[in-house]
Amino acid sequence: MVQARKYVLVNYFVDQPKPTDLKLMEEELPPLQDGEYLVEAEFFSVDPYMRIYVQNLPLGITMIGGQVAKIIESKNPDFPVGKRIVGYLGWRTHTILNPNIHQSFSEQKPYLLPDIGDLPSSLGLGMLGMPGNTAYFGLLEICKPKSGETIVISGAAGAVGSHVGQIAKILGLNVIGICGSDEKCKWLTEEMGFDFAINYKTMPVAAKLREVAPQGVDCYFDNVGGDIAGTVIYQMNLFGRVALCGSISSYNADTKSLPKSTILQPAILLNQLKMEGFIARRWLNRWNEGIMQNLQWIREGKLHYRETVTKGFENMFDAFIGMLHGDNTGKAIVQV
Ligand SMILES: NC(=O)c1ccc[n+]([C@@H]2O[C@H](COP(=O)([O-])OP(=O)(O)OC[C@H]3O[C@@H](n4cnc5c(N)ncnc54)[C@H](OP(=O)(O)O)[C@@H]3O)[C@@H](O)[C@H]2O)c1
Repeated sequence: MVQARKYVLVNYFVDQPKPTDLKLMEEELPPLQDGEYLVEAEFFSVDPYMRIYVQNLPLGITMIGGQVAKIIESKNPDFPVGKRIVGYLGWRTHTILNPNIHQSFSEQKPYLLPDIGDLPSSLGLGMLGMPGNTAYFGLLEICKPKSGETIVISGAAGAVGSHVGQIAKILGLNVIGICGSDEKCKWLTEEMGFDFAINYKTMPVAAKLREVAPQGVDCYFDNVGGDIAGTVIYQMNLFGRVALCGSISSYNADTKSLPKSTILQPAILLNQLKMEGFIARRWLNRWNEGIMQNLQWIREGKLHYRETVTKGFENMFDAFIGMLHGDNTGKAIVQV
């Protein structure tokens, strides 16, 4: 008998999530039936969406999230022992899966991790997974960038932001990142190829942006929303494009009294800007295309990755709250 450990949501998050909002429990798994297979988690992803998505799900569920897991027992020839899968199985160490039964908050079914050679399988949760495809499709399909244009990316040193900036460089753009520390700014400009980086915690963003982008901004990849978004949007050029990917500056806010921010309509109207929200799963039918393109760029040395790895399933919560507070550079991962 396999004992799974799992985190159950016992309270909805209010403001900052608290360790007592989750309860670590054990569950005895039954023997496998025909068609089923058993996986053991190797890497977990902690992502900003978890903070807001759980608020609409029932208490008592296993905390939501993606993982890379190894198949350790199988009664399904399509999912042989030793292969790895990527799936939204939640914060649990062991899971029995049946491809014909899909029970997850996400419509995306678990899938076999493609052959990525000797690259770490954890990339299936980052550059070669959901954040990587968010960067790829969000930038190409919503920003529609052209060589020579200027793009600003907020949340620039995180999983999605650092990836967007690198693709933008591959495409020949002038790339400006906004992030929350001098170390992250240094990493973006010295290792990730960004042209400029602005520390929003210590620098006046509007003045600094006017200085480093006197030609104005053509594309804005928005991961944070709020005042930073307002500041960038007011420096955009005619027919600029805004890809609204996330709004992390408000995720821990009380939804009944969200922070007030700048009125954007005059800037959008006068410069005839296009602003579009998107969710990466819009491109589920092209998922593999994004993974394969990002894999190729990694192999060509054009995309670089960094992971901030927390060790131990018992430290899931710390990794989650740490990511929300900006402790991560690149992708935040938990290694079991
Ligand atoms: N639309 C989609 O399909 C989709 C998919 C994936 C992710 N997203 C969104 O994309 C954004 C980035 O996600 P990610 O997975 O790449 O996370 P991430 O950027 O790796 O981690 C979150 C980062 O947000 C920054 N942050 C936290 N509070 C902030 C605040 N008040 N103002 C500005 N920055 C703040 C922190 O960096 P600093 O040190 O720079 O503050 C932190 O490292 C999130 O908004 C997420 O919801 C959307």
